[in-house]
Amino acid sequence: MYKTDFLVIGSGIAALTFALKVADNFSDLKVTIITKDDKLESNTKYAQGGIATVLNEVKNDSFAQHFKDTILAGDGLCNEEVVKMVVEEAPIRLEELLEWGVNFDKSSNGEFSLGKEGGHSQNRILHHKDITGFEIIRALLKKVSLKSNIEVFEHHFALELITQHHVGQQVDRDSNISCYGAYVLDTKFNKVKRITSKITMLATGGIGQVYKTTTNPKIATGDGIAMAYRAKAEIENMEFIQFHPTGLYDKLSLESSCFLISEAVRGFGAYLRNIHGERFMNKYDSRMELASRDIVARAIDNELKVRGDEYVFLDCTHLDFQKFKEKFPNILEKCISIGLDIKKDMIPVAPVAHYLCGGIKVNVNGKTSIENLFASGECASTGLHGANRLASNSLLEAIVYSHKSFMYLKATFDSLKSIPESIPTWNDKYQKPYAENILITHERMDLNNIMNDYIGIIRSNKRLLRANNRLEILYNETLKMYEESKVSRDLCELRNLITIGYLITQFSISRKENKGGFFNVDLIEKKIV
Ligand code: FAD
Ligand code: SIN
Repeated sequence: MYKTDFLVIGSGIAALTFALKVADNFSDLKVTIITKDDKLESNTKYAQGGIATVLNEVKNDSFAQHFKDTILAGDGLCNEEVVKMVVEEAPIRLEELLEWGVNFDKSSNGEFSLGKEGGHSQNRILHHKDITGFEIIRALLKKVSLKSNIEVFEHHFALELITQHHVGQQVDRDSNISCYGAYVLDTKFNKVKRITSKITMLATGGIGQVYKTTTNPKIATGDGIAMAYRAKAEIENMEFIQFHPTGLYDKLSLESSCFLISEAVRGFGAYLRNIHGERFMNKYDSRMELASRDIVARAIDNELKVRGDEYVFLDCTHLDFQKFKEKFPNILEKCISIGLDIKKDMIPVAPVAHYLCGGIKVNVNGKTSIENLFASGECASTGLHGANRLASNSLLEAIVYSHKSFMYLKATFDSLKSIPESIPTWNDKYQKPYAENILITHERMDLNNIMNDYIGIIRSNKRLLRANNRLEILYNETLKMYEESKVSRDLCELRNLITIGYLITQFSISRKENKGGFFNVDLIEKKIV
């Protein structure tokens, strides 16, 4: 049993920036960060391209252009007020990251070196070489370690949000549900703790691991969204999965997560070519390699399907090698490690699952539909991305929304009600650990195959129905395992991933118009001639 004031679930950019702010402002209150792996592990750690921000000093860019690019990428489904707010807040939040010690690259004239990515009309991406996320996490964790009122529990896996349901009250989606904290599995000691908290912040990141091929690391299993869904929070836009066009095609690394070749490499001038060396993007978009991600990913997918190939090439052979080495040292090192000399060899790439545009619905203060429950970062759906996220808008969204939640709580925290005393402890006294872990592994492989085969870049009504039927079987089998045994991280992740797969399928079945990253062949408008 454990009591805190702010329970922050996750240790990526959304979690750490929120924790730092509340710890600073409420210096006599306790902030508890729990994270299921070691504290460095997150999607944030792997972010390459950077953070999109219009800096005042840059003459040829404007908020209006960043706004327009975001709206265009989102294909008409962005919330325009949110987009305006986020792009205008970007420079102030960026300033904070600098104060916290994050280093962004500068050019020889002392100004920030700004990268470009798909869908951006200007160079506006601040970055730290090609390891921006790692640099951000390094600086934020250092700051967190200096705060005496923040404690960090690594290897603590959030299982369930605590709501009235746990104190014996009936709740439905329309009743006023409140969150009182979470049940958390300490995976080192296999003990479930009850952590109660006045405020709970879900910053659990993405869902990439539901697919067989993804840029996302192992932690990205959609736990926060699945927990929120079970607690009856509003979830939206789950059909909008963003596939990154250029995952490194390397059979060895495809098994867990796939190394990303940043879009900034195309921003730097790299070309896409089919395996015969022909450029093909001119058939799909006048912006060629720098069209927005949904368009480039679909174009590559089409080339692969038509030709029966497994990858296309990213050609960097014509680029200035010295500059490439300075800008993309991590990518270069990876290429060398698999025997590629980018001065003469082209890089094999294919689209892979990368980012979820939807998630837990939040309002402009980052508040979910459940009282005292907030969400920020990739697990939240703010309305910024619409049907397809503009590159490098994700880190930005996380810092802006963690700030908005903090500001809201600064004004309202004192009026919060106290938490009921009667919350029970987790009861699994009579259950045994699951005996056949191999079955969990098999179910997860089955799920990954279903998602890749039936709910990938191109969907159809038939595929969606197939996925739906198969997921139902997996769900029932997993539920039985869950009900009959002690909880474990593997089992709970599987259960959460199946829930995520189910949500993506249901939202895809409900969508009746192709938009952004969502494409169902049966919805193509039939032209009457
Ligand atoms: P994360 O950084 O993923 O953190 C989630 C945290 O929650 C982790 O610490 C995880 O361990 C923890 N967690 C999850 N479930 C539980 C649980 N049940 N219990 C306890 N803890 C839990 N975006 C950009 O804007 N620019 C980029 O250049 C960029 N490049 C990218 C490159 C790659 C390879 C990837 C994968 C993504 C990239 N993105 C980029 C997207 C961006 O990195 C993520 O959307 C963003 O970092 C998400 O931050 P977050 O704080 O929401 O979640
Ligand atoms: C990349 O560097 O290509 C990833 C950027 C992003 O996902 O925003």
